Parts: sequence; C-alpha cells; structure tokens
Amino acid sequence: MSKEQTKALTPEKEGRPELGEVEGILLSQATCNEWQRIQGFQARPDDLLICTYPKAGTTWIQEIVDMIQQDGDLEKCKRAPVHRRHPFIEWARPPQPSGVEQAEAMPPPRTLKTHLPVKLLPPSFWEQQCKETPPLRSQLWDPPGAPVVSESDPCWGDLPQHTHTAPQPRLCSRCCLPALSAAVGWGPWHDHVKGWWKAKETHCVLFLFYEDMKKDPKHEIQKVARFLGKNLDQELLEKIVYHTSFDVMKDNPMANRSGVSLSIMDQSISPFMRKGTVGDWKNHFTVAQNERFEEDYEEKMAGTNLTFCMEL
Ligand code: A3P
Repeated sequence: MSKEQTKALTPEKEGRPELGEVEGILLSQATCNEWQRIQGFQARPDDLLICTYPKAGTTWIQEIVDMIQQDGDLEKCKRAPVHRRHPFIEWARPPQPSGVEQAEAMPPPRTLKTHLPVKLLPPSFWEQQCKETPPLRSQLWDPPGAPVVSESDPCWGDLPQHTHTAPQPRLCSRCCLPALSAAVGWGPWHDHVKGWWKAKETHCVLFLFYEDMKKDPKHEIQKVARFLGKNLDQELLEKIVYHTSFDVMKDNPMANRSGVSLSIMDQSISPFMRKGTVGDWKNHFTVAQNERFEEDYEEKMAGTNLTFCMEL
C-alpha cells in the first residue's frame, strides 16, 4: 500500500481534521499515517484474530476467548486490561506504542483484534492461512442497529472515529443514509459484515451472532472452544458463562474499560458496558427511522442468506 493510497481528509471536507481515508474507508489519521506498517504486519500461523465491527460485542468475545485459552484461570485473565491482552492492530495514538508494535512485542500464540473490513486486512493473515496450520479467526456480529445505538453514546472522547457531536443524525448514518453510510469509522456495517460472511467460505472463520450468544451462551462458548481446539467440561463451561456474563464483566475492571483514559472514553457520561441487550436501537429510533432502517437493511443485504434475529 503506497502512501498515495491513504488520503487525509481536509477539515473543510468532513469537519473532522483527525480523520483520514484508506480505499474509501474512514480511519483515524494516526492509523492512516501508520498504514504501510499495518499492511506489512507479519501474521503468524498460530495467531487468532478477533475481527468485529465496532460495538458488536468485541470485548465480550475477547473475554470468552481469553477464559478458554487460560483454561478458566481468572487470575491469568486479570493479568492486564483486555485492550492490552489482545493488541488492536490498527491502533495508532502516538506516542503510545501502536497496535502493531504491541503485537510484535507479544510472544506467540497471540490473540489480536481488528475492526478492519476484509479488503483492508494485512495480506499476511490471508497468506498464513494457506499454510497447514491456518490462523483462526473469530467474529461476533450484531444486528446493524445495535452498534449504531451503542456507539452513539456520548461517552467517547477524542477518538475521531468515535466522535459524536450529533448522536441522532448519526444513528442513521451508519446504516440508513446511503450518502452518509461510508462516512463512519471502518466503513458501513453492511459491507463489513458481507465481506467477512463471504470470507468464511474460503478461510478459517468462525462467525458468531450476538443474539445467539445472548440466547444460549453455553452453546456458543462451546462452539468457540471447539474452534480453538479445546473441549470444555461442564464445570469449566459454567464458570466461563458466569464470568463473561454482562453483570460480571460490568464489574470487572480488566474488562469494563474503566482504566481507559478519560480523553478516550468518559464513562461518567455513559458506561462502556451500557445495556448489553438485543434490539435496543428500536427504542432510540423514531417510527420513520425504524421503517427506513428495515428497508435499507432489506436492500443492502439482499442476495445474502444472512438474517439477524432483531430481538430476543
Ligand atoms: P451496549 O452499548 O449495547 O450495551 P464492543 O466491545 O465491540 O465495543 O461492544 C460493546 C457492546 O458489547 C456494548 O453494547 C456492551 O454492553 C456489549 N457487551 C460487552 N460485554 C457483554 C456481555 N458480557 N454480554 C452482553 N453484551 C456485552
């Protein structure tokens, strides 16, 4: 990826000087500045990559994966806040170490996190998959409205990709307003989800649904464990279900992001672990927005066999 392929957005164009663009996808300018290094990132065959759309429940799956990998050892899972345990590969916020630097400093086997759409994933993740021990990839998806509402919380600080000056118009910008739908960090939800849904046909991808996790966490956690090559006995499974439940994670400082600096996230305005429910966006949309949302969903997801249960 050459420097020319990343584009800084002028303040005049978007009113958000810290945003940049790579192949039409909005990312923070700091991430764009690091783009060559991110694209050159060397994945390893034993990496596990958690790929999600923002606010889809990334932290939840991270905690579940860690509990499985640590055989339910709580102390080990509390060794560091979740964002330190699993480097976020496109993270860039100088002078802090970038996501790539954090990942490079981590001994294998590594579990990494990304919100990048398929087309922007560093090529080495795909190349490594061609080898005999494929990297494992896990995803957690949510119906499109949920990340929209979750992310519209005003708690996000100066992270440009999360900045919300006008929550209500933004509610629709992620999904419903075609003209604006590309103008959100990491690109439109529909393209993101469709890209990864297709990738699972040819790559080792476990695709999970947030509603399934809510409905039957035991079943879904066992599915994740099998994907990781582990078999959980009943006692361990129940322990993981309990410690990764919303109420327990909400009080776990290593999972609830309480250590994240105020300039990034001010949880006195709205907690990171907000509601953890399915279909909450319906309470935030007007009737007209809900109708538009449904129409937009039908149109953009036509031709896929992807259906989301919008409520439990
Ligand atoms: P809400 O804002 O709807 O509550 P991410 O980690 O991708 O940023 O996603 C955050 C969303 O996942 C938040 O949604 C958060 O509450 C929810 N979440 C985190 N842990 C959860 C859990 N154990 N059970 C259910 N939802 C969870």
